[in-house]
Amino acid sequence: MPWPDAAYPKTIALRDGAEVLVRRLAAGDEDALLAFFQAIPEAERFFLKDDVTSPDLIGGWVRDAERPDPEPSPTALAPASPSGRTGGRAFSLIAVDDGRVLAEAALVRRRGAARGHLADLRVVVAQDYRHRGLGTAILSELLDVARDSGLNGVLFEAVGDVQAQALAAAESLGFIRLGLVHGGAIDPDGRLHDVVMLVMPLRRWRSSADF
Ligand SMILES: CC(C)(COP(=O)(O)OP(=O)(O)OC[C@H]1O[C@@H](n2cnc3c(N)ncnc32)[C@H](O)[C@@H]1OP(=O)(O)O)[C@@H](O)C(=O)NCCC(=O)NCCS
Repeated sequence: MPWPDAAYPKTIALRDGAEVLVRRLAAGDEDALLAFFQAIPEAERFFLKDDVTSPDLIGGWVRDAERPDPEPSPTALAPASPSGRTGGRAFSLIAVDDGRVLAEAALVRRRGAARGHLADLRVVVAQDYRHRGLGTAILSELLDVARDSGLNGVLFEAVGDVQAQALAAAESLGFIRLGLVHGGAIDPDGRLHDVVMLVMPLRRWRSSADF
């Protein structure tokens, strides 16, 4: 199933009216993306699922983003891709300003034929750009992409107390809480934290532009 990418790059407006460029992750973004993640406090990075300071990991994300479409999909609603690189398992967007990465977010299709109708979602925004609507705007972009690529749903999980902003952003978009994994995360001091699982059934999703 190819990813639709005809919409990018595009400019999105933040709550205060400032505009930010959002585009797909691409070859050449590795250093800026690493610098972006290195600037996120270690205490926050600890709760992310990946070691985002690893050049190998970031290189893999970029390679996946650059993978060409293996075959045309008869079912996808997506328009033809102008870039011809929509075949990876992830669809990654970055917000950028003059070479600096301000946010990174991705849809990652679940592995296996039986689960590939769902995708997981991740998002991180630079600290000095938070509370301006960038997180919800980039999540909203990815929900549009997920819907247009024919996915059924998007799953999101957040550590209840530590990632409360992520929960608030997801719920403000209409994600539904599925439940809790009690003690699903453990911090460096050995304290357990609950992990909240959420879903966006895409039949419920309409872009805010539709309202
Ligand atoms: C989660 C995160 C991406 C949010 O980024 P952000 O750009 O600050 O997000 P937004 O400003 O769009 O949205 C969050 C805020 O908007 C509010 N919000 C957004 N849209 C809203 C709406 N329509 N109605 C009410 N509230 C809304 C949220 O409650 C929250 O409130 P606040 O900013 O006033 O405190 C950011 O905090 C982050 O990078 N955290 C660390 C990484 C992380 O936890 N990622 C999640 C796991 S992958």
